[in-house]
Amino acid sequence: MISDREKVIVIDFGGQYNQLVARRVRECNVYCEIYSYKTPLSKIKEMAPKGIILTGGPNSCYEEGAPTASKELFELGIPVLGLCYGAQLMQLVLGGSVERATVREYGKTDVYVNTNSQLFEGVSDLRDNRDSDEAMTVCWMSHFDYISKAAPGFEIIAHTKDCPVAAAQDVSRNLYAIQFHPEVLHTVDGKKMLYNFVRNICACSGNWRMDSFVEQTVAQVREHVGSGRVLLALSGGVDSSVLAALLSRAIGRQLTCVFVDHGLLRKNEGDEVEAVFGKEGAFDLNFIRINAADRFYDRLAGVTEPERKRKIIGEEFIRVFEEESKKIGSVDYLAQGTIYPDVVESGLGGESAVIKSHHNVGGLPDYVDFKEIIEPLRYLFKDEVRKVGLELGLPENIVFRQPFPGPGLGIRIIGEVTPNKIHIVQEADAIFREEIAIAASSEGGNPSWMPDQYFAALTNMQSVGVMGDERTYDYAVALRAVRTVDFMTAEAAPIPWDVLQKVMSRIVGEVRGVNRVMFDLSSKPASTIELE
Ligand code: XMP
Repeated sequence: MISDREKVIVIDFGGQYNQLVARRVRECNVYCEIYSYKTPLSKIKEMAPKGIILTGGPNSCYEEGAPTASKELFELGIPVLGLCYGAQLMQLVLGGSVERATVREYGKTDVYVNTNSQLFEGVSDLRDNRDSDEAMTVCWMSHFDYISKAAPGFEIIAHTKDCPVAAAQDVSRNLYAIQFHPEVLHTVDGKKMLYNFVRNICACSGNWRMDSFVEQTVAQVREHVGSGRVLLALSGGVDSSVLAALLSRAIGRQLTCVFVDHGLLRKNEGDEVEAVFGKEGAFDLNFIRINAADRFYDRLAGVTEPERKRKIIGEEFIRVFEEESKKIGSVDYLAQGTIYPDVVESGLGGESAVIKSHHNVGGLPDYVDFKEIIEPLRYLFKDEVRKVGLELGLPENIVFRQPFPGPGLGIRIIGEVTPNKIHIVQEADAIFREEIAIAASSEGGNPSWMPDQYFAALTNMQSVGVMGDERTYDYAVALRAVRTVDFMTAEAAPIPWDVLQKVMSRIVGEVRGVNRVMFDLSSKPASTIELE
């Protein structure tokens, strides 16, 4: 059981890097979960974590009403690491002082750390000064308040030009406070520091591995499901595909996957999903593909408003799925590909507000006759889901697929969706993706300009062009390619000019109905990633 597993907990004070902290801990092969700072102490005790990490946060800890922690949290005998706000809070609660600084420390900062501290063991000196116990390293700082006096019992183990207490420790109580952010990659030796905390100070054995996750989850699912039947809405996206593969390994043909092809997928995508999960594929499961394109096209005819299109596609999806599940009859379990960021973002884990407003298969449970929902991936981050996918033998083109919205090409065609426009956008998009793949592989697979999401969209603009000696009045395709970490903000990816030129000339030459190709330079905000 995951709940019995050796774990570290992250207590979230609303910092922007809370999920990153948990991911970094898991990269040290230690299981980690995020909880709000409001979590009662009794619950924390019950969980018996091997370590506790307090995150950063936007408040000033000395202000009335600011998120806080009780003194008892530091008296449980469990090692605690405070980061930024968490560090200041630890110091304040235990008798130190925190004040507003005259200068804000922000960005990459030279920090002098004492390498005799277990926390900073192995941190390299960027000046290459090997004779001293003090190493100069670069860390990511982002704070206005600072610890002006460490709490009694603490010794200072790091400082900067402007910050007298950049880190402090009380080894006898296993308490550590760091003003900077080791979880951010700009902190050169940040991973080492977190490793030192979770593996050495907390003495976690590092048994969180994806191969053992697969083995244990397969055993748990088998035991839980028994001889029951499980239904899964398979979209071909990373999460539902990995879930299908996992459930197939656990329960084989007790699993039925329903794949609704709404005719708004990328070129050949429906066939690719069928090739992996269908009769000819390597997985033991029941696969039902429903080709429902005409139904979706009929309902979308004449509709131009983006949110209306989204709604129609969502509703029709549920209807198709409902009809199919009626044919299958009652099932015992409905499987869902919920993953850990969904759990945290929906407010069940940490402190962050609800971020996602769009769901791929929202509302399905209301329409299917089942006893219980199972969500075997709900503890995993996306990169862990991908590792599980590889572990289960899923092809790389599925495991590393870029995100694709539930309403599909329906929201990549501005204005009315018609079969002809879908054809145009599928062809243009296939060319764009093909050329990006060729260019990327000629630069070793992952060049610095590689976008995190890229696609062709169809604008609703027709304009005059000339083809041979003929005047044309055709559509303009927009190429969108963005670099982003969280899809909340994004910048246009700097695709090399020659690649763009080649894509443009191929699209205009090969796709009928297009005489102009544009590259969308906009950032998010003010634009969004999708055009609708
Ligand atoms: P936007 O366009 O909001 O996109 O900047 C952010 C990320 O979300 C995806 N997206 C959607 N996904 N249903 C989905 O399942 C939707 O309606 C939807 N709209 C946008 C988008 O592809 C990007 O990854």
